[in-house]
Amino acid sequence: MGQDSIDRRDIVLTGDRPTGKLHLGHYVGSIKNRLSLQEQYQTYVMIADTQALSDNFDNPQKIRANIREVCKDYLACGINPAKTTIFLQSRIKELFELTCYYMNLVTISRLERNPTIKAELQMRKFGESIPAGFLCYPVSQAADITIFKATLIPVGNDQLPMIELSNEIVRRFNRTYACDILRESSPVLSNHQRLVGIDGKAKASKSLGNAIFLDDHESVLRDKINAMYTDPNHIKVSDPGRIEGNVVFEYLDVFHNDKEEVENLKQQYTKGGLGDRVLKDLLFGSMNDLLKPIREKRACITDSIVDNVLNDGIEKASLVARKTIQEVRDVIGFQ
Ligand code: TRP
Repeated sequence: MGQDSIDRRDIVLTGDRPTGKLHLGHYVGSIKNRLSLQEQYQTYVMIADTQALSDNFDNPQKIRANIREVCKDYLACGINPAKTTIFLQSRIKELFELTCYYMNLVTISRLERNPTIKAELQMRKFGESIPAGFLCYPVSQAADITIFKATLIPVGNDQLPMIELSNEIVRRFNRTYACDILRESSPVLSNHQRLVGIDGKAKASKSLGNAIFLDDHESVLRDKINAMYTDPNHIKVSDPGRIEGNVVFEYLDVFHNDKEEVENLKQQYTKGGLGDRVLKDLLFGSMNDLLKPIREKRACITDSIVDNVLNDGIEKASLVARKTIQEVRDVIGFQ
């Protein structure tokens, strides 16, 4: 986004489900983006515990245990509570109310057409017993976005259908209640959409066990890099190697700052005469340069620091939410 297109009235909002600590996939896919956005815009980052409950309703301990972890990850990465309002979704009661009003503005068949929901339903094996709360979480997500009048939503590709639905609800709401109080929003996609897992098979994810966590100890980082999938046919150093599908190169592309050096290494590797060891050592250096300060900062963030940040954020977010819900009640005609 160029400086020209900056509109100070834009408001940024995004969120994460607190179902685990954040990993490097989150960092390159989203957190990095937020760090620059918070410098330019009013920014909200929501820990989406209510949404996390929609597919973990029988395991609330998991969500509870991860709220502080996620918040620590944010702070360690440089999300700055003086610039970004960090808050907990379930503590903003107005979101539940707004979700309820929005439920009337979408059809069940529209919700069933959402490709992300379709994929998630398959993965979660709900079969015929789809919880209504799960099918409807995109409606609650529309409330998240619109209650803060957010216009820029930094997310991954999988969230595009949610933003589309949110905009449909906005238009329907404004039309139905003959007003213009709600604003439409647009996604902000990161340059690095998907970080592959260290096994090279799929995107990095906690559940697949192929991710590097932001607080992984140096020795764990070393082990995970050593375990990275490279080219199985590149046996001797002198053998020519393949770049495509080679996780070490995929990560060097993302984490090694000297792009020219990476290009030279790729040429050398393709020709033969470059061993995986050298590359993995180089990658370790670059990744540790990024992760070491995050890891060290994270270790100093206490639970009480986190609780203060969240309480502060909840207070700020509540003020805005209350104002919007009042406008919403007014146009509906509720006292
Ligand atoms: N659905 C998002 C995810 O799983 C989390 C989320 C909840 C969100 N509410 C949001 C993202 C509002 C952007 C805007 O990652």
